[in-house]
Amino acid sequence: MRLDVLKYLMDRVKIVDKELDRWVPKNLRPKILAQATRHLLEAGGKRLRPCLVILSCEAVGGKTKDALEAAAAIELLHTFTLIHDDIMDHDEIRRNVKTVHVLWGEPIAIVAGDALFAKVFEALAANMQRLGVDGRRAAEVLDIVSKASFEICRGQTKDLLMAKKRRVTEEEYLDMIAGKTGALIEASMRVGALLGGGTRKQVDLLGRYGMLIGMAFQIRDDVLGIIGEKRKFGKPIGSDIQEGKKTLLVVKALERLDPKDRRTLLRLLGKKDITRKEMRKAIGLLEKTGAIEYASRKAEAMVNEAKKLLGELPESRAKNALLRIADFVIHREI
Ligand code: IPE
Ligand code: IPE
Ligand code: MG
Ligand code: MG
Repeated sequence: MRLDVLKYLMDRVKIVDKELDRWVPKNLRPKILAQATRHLLEAGGKRLRPCLVILSCEAVGGKTKDALEAAAAIELLHTFTLIHDDIMDHDEIRRNVKTVHVLWGEPIAIVAGDALFAKVFEALAANMQRLGVDGRRAAEVLDIVSKASFEICRGQTKDLLMAKKRRVTEEEYLDMIAGKTGALIEASMRVGALLGGGTRKQVDLLGRYGMLIGMAFQIRDDVLGIIGEKRKFGKPIGSDIQEGKKTLLVVKALERLDPKDRRTLLRLLGKKDITRKEMRKAIGLLEKTGAIEYASRKAEAMVNEAKKLLGELPESRAKNALLRIADFVIHREI
């Protein structure tokens, strides 16, 4: 990414981090609640969604601080879903640190996630009170975030159910990721644009941009989960195979493999005690079918479509950054 864009984004990440500290302070009590809620926030993360909230606000003519609490709210919502997702996926490492349930146990991880979710609506309300947002717009913001939260649950449920199915279509996969990942990124864009005073048309096109880059983001995540570098990615490689997840790579490979190889892959998917050799075999089968290239091309097409939508917005630093982020989504290693 070009240096000026990077600096512009880093400035916003700093502002978001300060705001997150305000909503989830160190002095929360009981202390374990502060530790468990702050753990992943302190471990870093890309802060993609809160940046998108702010950029979307700025892209329609709003100021950075017009969407400040909302940006934090969206990152809190994201963090909540990650804590619960790691329980659901039995994952022990995220952002290169141990996951919350590994450190504090599942009951505390569940309640820490719930606590973050509660803060989401408090932060949103504070943002809109501060700006004096009119009732209709305020109701729309709450509607968007509530519905996105439900979409995540719907997508996550499908993700779990699909892991148990032998046959999954690409269409089912796309609907699942639209829910678990696309919906929150779309909501980030819509909320930012609403708080920035965007027109109906701007809110809608930025929302569509969010859904498209969000789905591409998830597809890239599936790819990195197989061919990524653990240290950069911050998450274990191959855990989707161990959990039997129907990523786009798996969906495509199962479609393309001959019956014998398909049976082998199906036997290895979801095998909890999978050996390193078996893992290499499974990854080899995915590679052999060209599923990785297929998925990468699919993500690229979505990003190109998303970038085209931005053509209708006036030129600005925010718009330029949104174009860069679209490329980052599919080229990232982290
Ligand atoms: C992880 O999201 C969950 C997915 C939707 C793949 P991110 O990759 O944005 O996670 P962090 O916030 O940077 O850790
Ligand atoms: C991402 O789920 C979506 C949510 C967390 C809601 P995944 O399970 O695919 O993502 P990672 O790989 O654990 O981050
Ligand atoms: Mg997961
Ligand atoms: Mg998951």
